[in-house]
Amino acid sequence: MKQIAFGPDANADSMRLVEAPVPVPGAGEILIEVGHAGVNRPDVLQRMGKYAPPAGASPVLGLEVSGKVAAVGPGVAGWRVDDPVCALTPGGGYAEFCLAPAGQALPIPAGITVEQAAGMPETWFTVWASLVDIGRLAAGERLLVHGGSSGIGLAAIDLARLRGARCLVTVGDEEKAHFCREFGAAGTINYRTEDFVARVRELTGGEGVDVVLDMVAGDYVPKNLSLLRRDGRLVLIALQRGTHAEVDLNLVMRNRLVITGSTMRPRTIPEKTAIRDALLREVWPACAAGRVRTHVHAVLPLAEAGEAHRLMESSRHIGKIVLRVRP
Ligand SMILES: NC(=O)c1ccc[n+]([C@@H]2O[C@H](COP(=O)([O-])OP(=O)(O)OC[C@H]3O[C@@H](n4cnc5c(N)ncnc54)[C@H](OP(=O)(O)O)[C@@H]3O)[C@@H](O)[C@H]2O)c1
Repeated sequence: MKQIAFGPDANADSMRLVEAPVPVPGAGEILIEVGHAGVNRPDVLQRMGKYAPPAGASPVLGLEVSGKVAAVGPGVAGWRVDDPVCALTPGGGYAEFCLAPAGQALPIPAGITVEQAAGMPETWFTVWASLVDIGRLAAGERLLVHGGSSGIGLAAIDLARLRGARCLVTVGDEEKAHFCREFGAAGTINYRTEDFVARVRELTGGEGVDVVLDMVAGDYVPKNLSLLRRDGRLVLIALQRGTHAEVDLNLVMRNRLVITGSTMRPRTIPEKTAIRDALLREVWPACAAGRVRTHVHAVLPLAEAGEAHRLMESSRHIGKIVLRVRP
């Protein structure tokens, strides 16, 4: 089969198609004939040498795919050869065939195209775990999401709506702001031209928010904390502006704030299976009802994976970038 290799330098130009053996499913795994693969920022970081795959995970890029089941390993129930499928993978998605634990696989949701389905698992597993399991986002609460037009950000807007919460987002330009409002954000803040703390206060009548989903960190952390109401939760999922922050612990104590976070990839298969089950129960039916949407910005052939990474690095995209592995 063909797959994408990269290196030895960290440049996107180093990404190239190579021949590799088709993987063989072990106990509890399915082999997927990949039709499409989602591109995620963690793939870009891995290519740059800034995000090593966890021990035992495939070193090949690609955390989510859609396609059809090509083979099932011992002990797998519920999946048959040729079933349409999408899955959160342990890596290896930028390839013609890819393994996934059966507990991380889902059917293609009704009303969702195969291109869109390739871009859903990584995003939705992360957003569900961050906002529901960890962030405990509840009906009537307010949520602030940084990076509202990212794949993660758009899913967070949808999930907030599903939970009956009100979602404000930060974005880097006016086109993204317009898109997020049309997508369902209650308010947008252009972080390049506006002070997001002042604007969030203004948009919430001075009250602030209950949960912040933060992919920025660094100097955003104290600003996020200053916006949280009593019992507020700050959920960190990326550290684009740095791993260190100065925090007013008096504020944390007085307002009973929770500073937490999560990374999806190192989680155990049982943990991911529990998230898969929640998505099947709560989100996949909402897709069929048209209450969950995804936005695919571009679909590029697998051979142009380097171009897909350059597009993501440019941050010109809105929503997901997807690789077409088979015509
Ligand atoms: N913890 C986990 O398990 C996990 C899993 C998946 C992804 N992630 C992280 O989640 C983030 C989104 O992933 P993705 O694949 O959807 O990537 P993406 O589409 O490339 O999103 C990156 C986002 O970061 C925003 N951003 C950058 N600097 C910002 C700033 N100073 N203020 C506000 N927003 C800023 C960008 O906004 P503009 O384009 O508007 O500038 C963009 O929307 C990435 O950082 C990724 O590493 C974490």
